[in-house]
Amino acid sequence: MFSKTIDRNGTHALKLERYKNYNGAIPAWVADMDFKSPQCVIDALKKRVEHGVFGYTAVSDELIEAVANFIKKEHGWSVPKEWFAFTSGVVASLNIACGILKENESAITTTPIYPYFLSAPANMKREVTAVRMREIEGRWSIDFDEFEKHIKPNCRMILLCNPYNPGGTVFTKKELLKIGEIALKHNLLICSDEIHADLVLSENVKHIPIASLSPEIADRTITLMAPSKTFNIAGLQSSFALAQNKNLKAAFERSMGHINGGVNLLALTAAQAAYEGGGEWLQNVKEYLRENLKLVRKFIVNNPKLRLLELEATYLAWIDCRALDTDPWKLFLKGGVVLNDGKSFGEGGEGFVRLNFAMPRAVLKEVLSRMENAMR
Ligand SMILES: Cc1ncc(COP(=O)(O)O)c(C=O)c1O
Repeated sequence: MFSKTIDRNGTHALKLERYKNYNGAIPAWVADMDFKSPQCVIDALKKRVEHGVFGYTAVSDELIEAVANFIKKEHGWSVPKEWFAFTSGVVASLNIACGILKENESAITTTPIYPYFLSAPANMKREVTAVRMREIEGRWSIDFDEFEKHIKPNCRMILLCNPYNPGGTVFTKKELLKIGEIALKHNLLICSDEIHADLVLSENVKHIPIASLSPEIADRTITLMAPSKTFNIAGLQSSFALAQNKNLKAAFERSMGHINGGVNLLALTAAQAAYEGGGEWLQNVKEYLRENLKLVRKFIVNNPKLRLLELEATYLAWIDCRALDTDPWKLFLKGGVVLNDGKSFGEGGEGFVRLNFAMPRAVLKEVLSRMENAMR
């Protein structure tokens, strides 16, 4: 099902458009998959389009129920209807969440990180402190003593990315409890971006929503989730925030104001269909991604100048190329592959590239072979 190469030319896919002048370089950067979405999504969209009237649309109870059932099944977390606020994307939600902070308040996060964690506070004219991720026992994690030392007196919010992008770490219960403990001790809100929650690839690892750990942690947490990565519908722009605390939810909605006026009706249609009927597709895509990851690992072993730590979730391999002693992004681009440049993820990203391996295996093989040739 996922082995078939689908020609995305002529669809204005961002993945292809931005680097179309690089003479046939294979795009393996921005985080969407080169696979068709679940058939139930395609069918639901067709049906909705056939109706022909595309007016303003409300979020339905059926959609919320479908999402809540999915979260309960996948993550064992019960989320009542009242906790939901729909937005047109997690990046929008990160900005909205930062808007809750007062002008003299700041946020803390980690680096290297998905770039909007650094730009959203800046957009909202709020300061952000970014603490370096550390290699701990073979995976990217947080040195909590160091993290705590960086909390400024005016800090009011932790911006957490779990599963982590880049690097694919799924924080353990122990790590999340530590984050919760720090938040309680310093009276910080937590904005937890869990967009990659449904794409855990390691067999013995489970995603734990931080807000599911205790009512006290939930009380200070806004969780951001979306169907966009899970079911490959990123172009439809749909996501939701979850907050147990009524005041916090109200603050989020106030911050959203009328800027994020409504959610795209086709996004709502696709999301409901995906959450209701996309389960089997999701299992299958994760299986396919696991096999792709094995290929990436083999490639890393065969090229000892490259390193890849434990990647527990996401289809994004965060490759340490520092031993190559050259700009790896440029090197691989010259070799015919477009990756994400580690530098764009902030401090600590220099010398790294991020490879999106959510593509038909034959294409991935070509990508890895081009990368190997580029290093010769
Ligand atoms: C951690 C993280 N948050 C948010 C997004 C984007 O979310 P959206 O497309 O809903 O704005 C991505 C996309 O790669 C991501 O990796």
